[in-house]
Amino acid sequence: MNPPKGEHYPAAADDLRSPCPVLNSLANSGYIARDGRNITAAELKSAIQYVGLGIDVASALVSRVFQVHSDDDKGPPGSSKAGLRDPGQVNKDGVPVLNLDQVGRPHALEHDVSITRQDRELGDCIHLDPDLYEHFVQAAKEDRYRSKDLGSYRKTRYEEQKQANPHLQFGKFEHYIGCAEASALRCVFGKGVTKGIPEAYVRAVFGEERLPYNEGWTPRKFKAYFPELIPVLLLISHYAWPF
Ligand code: HEM
Repeated sequence: MNPPKGEHYPAAADDLRSPCPVLNSLANSGYIARDGRNITAAELKSAIQYVGLGIDVASALVSRVFQVHSDDDKGPPGSSKAGLRDPGQVNKDGVPVLNLDQVGRPHALEHDVSITRQDRELGDCIHLDPDLYEHFVQAAKEDRYRSKDLGSYRKTRYEEQKQANPHLQFGKFEHYIGCAEASALRCVFGKGVTKGIPEAYVRAVFGEERLPYNEGWTPRKFKAYFPELIPVLLLISHYAWPF
């Protein structure tokens, strides 16, 4: 079965998926490979621009994650801790590729204090946790998530995980990654500067890993470039700051 791009089908049992609800939604609607395998940098870049990020953000993110992963900061040339690929991982044409399960690889981008995933030490850090999801849905204010709500919720999550996880790994690097995820979410699914993200969009993206077309969302015509994303990130970080 190869349905057209944009048609939503939940992942099949042997499809690979990531801890990122947005990448999973893109795979479930065919903007990246539905089986989650052998995704090229060009495909990933085009999918995240389609959903609403600018070419500057898409290029910076994709070139980083397409590096070969090294657990060590001083790995071989061209490798990095934030890199997600294995050495020599290419498709049959020799083009570098990535599988979605590698997005969740340990000691790379995946981190503690997620909104809807458990810490690695405590359970499943890849799939949606139904209780965390319910709490996040209840954190909407008047059916919306504004930047303040996202930041304050991240702070609540930090306090919860600090109590629950004696080996919590959460420093400034993880804090800023978490706030960057929330900022991208706010810019891509928000209804403009003051209106926030509708709760129904969050239910679709997190609850069903589905792009919220049925709820009225359309991809932004003017994409979100760094000069928009960074101030939103800093605002979220202000409310989320736990240190
Ligand atoms: C190359 C593209 C992307 C990569 C490699 C990526 C990677 C990741 C990773 C590794 C996580 C898990 C972090 C954790 O442990 O909680 C994650 C979560 C997340 N990502 Fe992405 N992501 C990408 C694109 C996007 C885009 C375009 C958006 C928004 C429009 C987004 C929004 C989110 C959100 C909101 C979470 C938090 C989920 C949670 O905490 O429950 N990501 N992403």
